[in-house]
Amino acid sequence: DKLHQFLHALPKCEHHVHIEGTISPELLFRLASKNEISLPSDDPAFESPTTLLTRYQNFSSLDDFLHYYFIGFSVLLGASDFEALTYDYISLAYAQKVYHAEIFFDPQAHISRGVPYHTVIAGMNAAKDRAAVDFPKLSVEFIPCLLRHLPVPSAHGLLTELLESGHFFDGTLVGFGMSSTELGKHPSLYKSVYEVAQSAGIANLTAHYGEEGPSDYVKDALSILGVGRIDHGRRSVEDAELITQLAESNTMLTLCPISNVVLKGVDNMHDLPIRKFLDADVRFSINSDDPAYFGGYILENYCAVQEAFELTVDDWGKIARGAIAGSWCSSLRKEQLL
Ligand code: HPA
Ligand code: ZN
Repeated sequence: DKLHQFLHALPKCEHHVHIEGTISPELLFRLASKNEISLPSDDPAFESPTTLLTRYQNFSSLDDFLHYYFIGFSVLLGASDFEALTYDYISLAYAQKVYHAEIFFDPQAHISRGVPYHTVIAGMNAAKDRAAVDFPKLSVEFIPCLLRHLPVPSAHGLLTELLESGHFFDGTLVGFGMSSTELGKHPSLYKSVYEVAQSAGIANLTAHYGEEGPSDYVKDALSILGVGRIDHGRRSVEDAELITQLAESNTMLTLCPISNVVLKGVDNMHDLPIRKFLDADVRFSINSDDPAYFGGYILENYCAVQEAFELTVDDWGKIARGAIAGSWCSSLRKEQLL
């Protein structure tokens, strides 16, 4: 119908997609076979791509998803695997009118399997270079995330390696974030890591909070870690003062509606605070998170929000402009995107 056409045509910015979360069950099995990686034989979900996809429809929590998500990493070995994964995501996103994409990846989970950081980033950069030729209207940036289920010294090790690469200062990496398990991982645990990042001059810092964890985690991430953005941030709605703070500071939340429903953060789409954030002038973007696991890319997320909240064209204009303003690109690029 008309609104679907409007949502499809709307130029989009995606700020919250994990490249490893874009691996379809078919590609996962194909790469496992090519790379001679055996998948868990004690879990019937790994019988076939179909049984795996069925299992994805029954996630009980973030950690239940993360178990499968990290098994999926095991099939990614060479730079060409990362190139194919990244190029396929970019093509799909561009077909849904994503004109600016900021893509997360989890270097620790590759390095710990013996796949060096430079292999991962070489593959992703090759995809970005091809996309620059094939989709000249699209800009692509990369953001490494530290993993909260690993010990804090491992996060320091990652940051040291990334700083030594020089990639935060040559345009390869646009910022630094953190993801994985949230409950029990209070921002104060990562204070020293973010202090190193700040004093090294990394301009753009973010962190996943308020997905499963309480609004205090969001508030403390802002004050303790100095992040300029919050990934998810859904549960910020539980603190009226925080809402005001987010609105006044123009801090963008990168919401992931289908992800929140699939991982049981909310019972259904109507329970998301979309209307409340709009009314309070909290800046947010709408994103896919791990589209191959959650069954929807960015357009499906826009459509799901529209069905639940019946937003107006003006509402969508506000969302789209907020997403551009909150992007980590130059002001010149923002003007092009407007
Ligand atoms: N939350 C935390 N960690 C993640 C996610 C998420 O939604 N997706 C991939 N890693
Ligand atoms: Zn995420």
